[in-house]
Amino acid sequence: MSELQQKRNILITSALPYANGSLHLGHLVEHTQSDIWARLMRARGHHVHYLCADDAHGTPIMLNAEKQGVTPEQLVDAQHEEHWRDLQGFSISYDHYHSTHSEENRELVEGIYLKLRDNGHIESRDVEQYYDPEKEMFLPDRFVKGTCPKCGTEDQYGDNCESCGSTYDSSELINPRSAVSGATPVLKTSKHLFVNLKNFEDMLKQWVRSGSLQSEVSNKLEEWFEAGLQSWDISRDAPYFGFQIPDEENKYFYVWMDAPIGYLACLKYVLDQQNEPLTPWIDPDSDHEMYHFIGKDILYFHSLFWPAMLYGAGQKLPTAVYVHGFLTVNGQKMSKTRGTFIKAATYLQHLEADYLRYYYAAKLSDGVVDIDLNMEDFRQRVNSDLVGKVVNIASRCAGFISKRFDGTLSAELHRPELYQEFVQASEHIAQRFESRKYNAAIREIMRLADVANQYIAEAEPWVAIKDETRQQEVHQVCSTGINLFRILMTWLAPVIPNTAVKAAEFLQTDLNKWAAIDTPLLNHAINRFKPLLARIEDETLTTIMEQSKEDLEKAATEGQAQPLSPELQNDPISDEINFDAFAKVDLRVVEIAAAEHVEGADKLLRLTLDLGGEQRQVFAGIKSAYQPEDLVGKLTVMVANLAPRKMRFGVSEGMVLAAGPGGEDLYVLEPNEGARPGMRVK
Ligand code: MSP
Ligand code: ZN
Repeated sequence: MSELQQKRNILITSALPYANGSLHLGHLVEHTQSDIWARLMRARGHHVHYLCADDAHGTPIMLNAEKQGVTPEQLVDAQHEEHWRDLQGFSISYDHYHSTHSEENRELVEGIYLKLRDNGHIESRDVEQYYDPEKEMFLPDRFVKGTCPKCGTEDQYGDNCESCGSTYDSSELINPRSAVSGATPVLKTSKHLFVNLKNFEDMLKQWVRSGSLQSEVSNKLEEWFEAGLQSWDISRDAPYFGFQIPDEENKYFYVWMDAPIGYLACLKYVLDQQNEPLTPWIDPDSDHEMYHFIGKDILYFHSLFWPAMLYGAGQKLPTAVYVHGFLTVNGQKMSKTRGTFIKAATYLQHLEADYLRYYYAAKLSDGVVDIDLNMEDFRQRVNSDLVGKVVNIASRCAGFISKRFDGTLSAELHRPELYQEFVQASEHIAQRFESRKYNAAIREIMRLADVANQYIAEAEPWVAIKDETRQQEVHQVCSTGINLFRILMTWLAPVIPNTAVKAAEFLQTDLNKWAAIDTPLLNHAINRFKPLLARIEDETLTTIMEQSKEDLEKAATEGQAQPLSPELQNDPISDEINFDAFAKVDLRVVEIAAAEHVEGADKLLRLTLDLGGEQRQVFAGIKSAYQPEDLVGKLTVMVANLAPRKMRFGVSEGMVLAAGPGGEDLYVLEPNEGARPGMRVK
């Protein structure tokens, strides 16, 4: 950092992961994006608090804990430990990882709420909502199911239909039932508290145009303004896992009220430890900066509710909200059946964090665009850029320095102007990182890595070394190469911190200071070179994907999850079912009319099932136990009303029933004699 540049005070946060499931590679997009930024800001000499926490409250966590037979606190503690372990595994350098279920948060939430209330921004109103009389609780939309009022599809969630896509009010559902107990819910009235967003309309409109938001985000907000701002319900009735609302009976703050305040609670915790005040971080007139990295799905909360809350309580607004898109794997939404729903921990069992961090960086831009993790591209890109280009520079030069020149770099560079060209590029690269155009920064860094490699190729130290009169030249060429490598690694250190630590050890220098780049390492002792990074092998990626499928199969045989959508895994309805739910499963006797191998699938057979007239195509994971020809003509039982599922090989229109641990030990169920295709199983 130059003398002229001012040391800034910067708070950086990522969205707080729900304490209700493991982190996966989708989450890591955000943690990687913010971590690179935090590391860069630190390396540029600023004062940074980089923070995150678990989002601990809400109905799903409460019900999940109950299902597991633990208290919500126990569930949240266990998740916290797991999340923090995974984040450290990916070298995400949070200064602290907190929880929204903390005293600091309770204090701040109450404080902000009371200010909002005393400033006249809270209004109360009666709300009629479904209530589960058995479970004695109000039901969030997600926990009411029933028949779509628009198209008649059964078993739809309380606010939208997956079949026809329409949205509605849960009270419009036909035959509603509680997804928690199965009971028929009743409509019941209760008082709720609302933040009157309209009070903040002018401020929000100004904020939208202040440049704090990406243009596509501002456009989205303009749409919301046009649609009209609704007041925001911040209260929930007991039972609820959260903070109680002061001066109200049995009312709790809605999880999305206390979650963003959790950013400040985490900061407060850290500042308390350091005996520093929170005031400059929340004072609207201070020059402290606050940045939130979030995904596009939670934009509304961060661009409307959060600034309104802060403003209403007389606090400083975020300096900027940085929104990223979603991760797809091999071009599609992460899927458990394809093995592309990869948990952070599964990845870390097989590969170093730096590989994925690099790949994400090479793809991330400042736009709200989805990014794709294409496994083959991932492997090639990492191998060719990091191993083939960057590390290669050091490995080509290091041997000569150690063996011929006593492990010490020369007193002068062979090409000082080339070194200067790199120094000149530094500011530009920093700017690209700072404006979150990581993909552009990486492109520029790789272009310069090519320049360095080309320089060494042309200087041919391996030829010159054989000539006694050219020894000094070789010394200077290799020292120039090593110095260029050092600049490249300083630029890349925020992206691949673990490799940078190894490189720093080799170079005997600190790679975390951009300002140090200006001066080359001369007459400087370096260590023996050890390989910094291995190539990614094709098999490793296959193993990760296979294991991600196995995780799922294990879960399925343990009765926790069916190989369906990820959402269903946390669906309280899939655990214990009542008779009504069972009665809905349409089990039919079918005849296997045809069976064949599926090209490219190791476990599946394609079955054509005859239901007594109607035919269905079903992909069944029974290849390990059956030859297709042995199945043809057999009778079996299928689930006939399972929603069709699109698979890589085609659509599967149901499921056949089989029993056994798997492998060869798998038995397709056969009905007794007399059963005929089409008969319903009762
Ligand atoms: N708890 C809320 C955030 C509260 S912030 C005050 C939440 N949690 S989450 O666990 O569902 O998501 C955490 C972050 O991860 C969000 O920013 C979300 O957009 C991001 N991602 C979750 N899945 C993702 C992908 N598949 N791809 C990219 N980011 C994704 O929302
Ligand atoms: Zn519908």
